[in-house]
Amino acid sequence: MSSRWNDTAEDLAEAARLKAEKAAKRAAKAAQKAREEAATAEQKAAEEAAANAPPSKRQKTENYTQDDGELGTKEVRLMRFDGAEIGCCRHVEETYERLNHIEEGSYGIVSRAKDMHTGEIVALKRLKLERETDGFPITSLREVTTLMAARSHVNVVKLREVVMGDSLKDVYIVMDFIEHDLKTLLDSLPEPFLLSETKTLLLQLLSATDFLHDHWILHRDLKTSNLLLNNRGQLKLADFGLARYTSDPPPQLTQLVVTLWYRAPELLLGATTYGPEIDLWSVGCIFGELLTRTPLLQGKNEIDQLTKIFELLGVPTEETWPGFRRLPNSKSLTFPKSSATTGSLLRTKFPLLTKAGVELLAALLCYDPKTRISAEDALRHIFFKEEPRPKREEMLPTFPSKAGQEKRRRAFSPGAPVRGDAPKLEGVMEGVFGGEEEEVGAGFSLRMGR
Ligand SMILES: Nc1ncnc2c1ncn2[C@@H]1O[C@H](COP(=O)(O)OP(=O)(O)OP(=O)(O)O)[C@@H](O)[C@H]1O
Ligand SMILES: [Mg+2]
Repeated sequence: MSSRWNDTAEDLAEAARLKAEKAAKRAAKAAQKAREEAATAEQKAAEEAAANAPPSKRQKTENYTQDDGELGTKEVRLMRFDGAEIGCCRHVEETYERLNHIEEGSYGIVSRAKDMHTGEIVALKRLKLERETDGFPITSLREVTTLMAARSHVNVVKLREVVMGDSLKDVYIVMDFIEHDLKTLLDSLPEPFLLSETKTLLLQLLSATDFLHDHWILHRDLKTSNLLLNNRGQLKLADFGLARYTSDPPPQLTQLVVTLWYRAPELLLGATTYGPEIDLWSVGCIFGELLTRTPLLQGKNEIDQLTKIFELLGVPTEETWPGFRRLPNSKSLTFPKSSATTGSLLRTKFPLLTKAGVELLAALLCYDPKTRISAEDALRHIFFKEEPRPKREEMLPTFPSKAGQEKRRRAFSPGAPVRGDAPKLEGVMEGVFGGEEEEVGAGFSLRMGR
């Protein structure tokens, strides 16, 4: 009897056969793996080649009009729509019954209307396209795309759909109807909002602004008439007529944005590249307006606006705003020396505001855009944590809605800038100062540069 330790020739042959079989299997497996790897690499190379290849349709590189006026030579980028959200537009007359006119602004006409199928009350904004000869204007396209991108935020007015009238120039955006705008409301209030209420409104505005900036959108027209408030204490940011996408580094943009009273100093001094900071300056102006019910800086023209800013905040210096003298319009101005600082002047203007409140206001109205507070940081500011705490939204007072029934009568408020070239500050200055004459403000003067 053979033991397992005592292999026969037969056993040895069998062992050799098994070994050879195993080696063949290993070789086949390795060959298969190599084939698979080669196929994957080939597919990846093909995908990369396809991505780098010229598109099947011609991609244009040409002179184009950039951001409402400026000429540039760059690759024309295509505006992308979310296919699932764009469909055939319904007809306005077949869908909505107009109830009353709310407001006519510089870019559109807004009415209150009823959805004939659901009975819901909506706001219809007719886009102003009459002057257009060259298709659908880019500003209206931006209004629709940016509002569409932001409408999921609770503090942005909800865009429901776009509807058409009889002609291609008859286009409406349909939004949720919101009972008030803050401008009309502030004008009718016997007293300003309480500090706790102001905090609630400011937090909601900052939250919407932060969301926009996080999604590369600049609003470029933040002001109280573009802030809506419903009767549940929810603030809704509206009017995306000047909004647009931006990038890092920012593209060259038109300076003629933001309603004058809310316009940041870098825009007034002619900066052509700017970023989300311009919206934060407007938030600072709105903060001041909420505290007093009066717009903070009511300039009559660009130079008067700068004068008003300097009166409130002191004249900028190389320390407070490095490099401001290199901005295009700075060259036409002679800046006097300023002794007062932003904080001390603001404290005098708002004696009832706490130290933290003045700090936040000064951080929003900071001259240097680079150090101006961001929406994200402003949301975390100590001002919102100290007493009085922000009121719960639903505890905000409610008011009868003027827009709900009748056409509003509103105190004068300047309109958003219309498209075109930004006025040259030098020309305005000549008109205001009449050559050698100078305009004297609070402890400083502006004079024509030589
Ligand atoms: N969804 C809405 N619900 C209720 N009222 C609205 C709504 N949207 C706008 N309004 C009212 O219509 C006014 C003008 O709307 P909007 O600001 O969008 O238009 P505009 O033509 O761009 O105005 P402007 O140039 O004056 O800023 C607002 O100030 C507000 O009073
Ligand atoms: Mg508006």
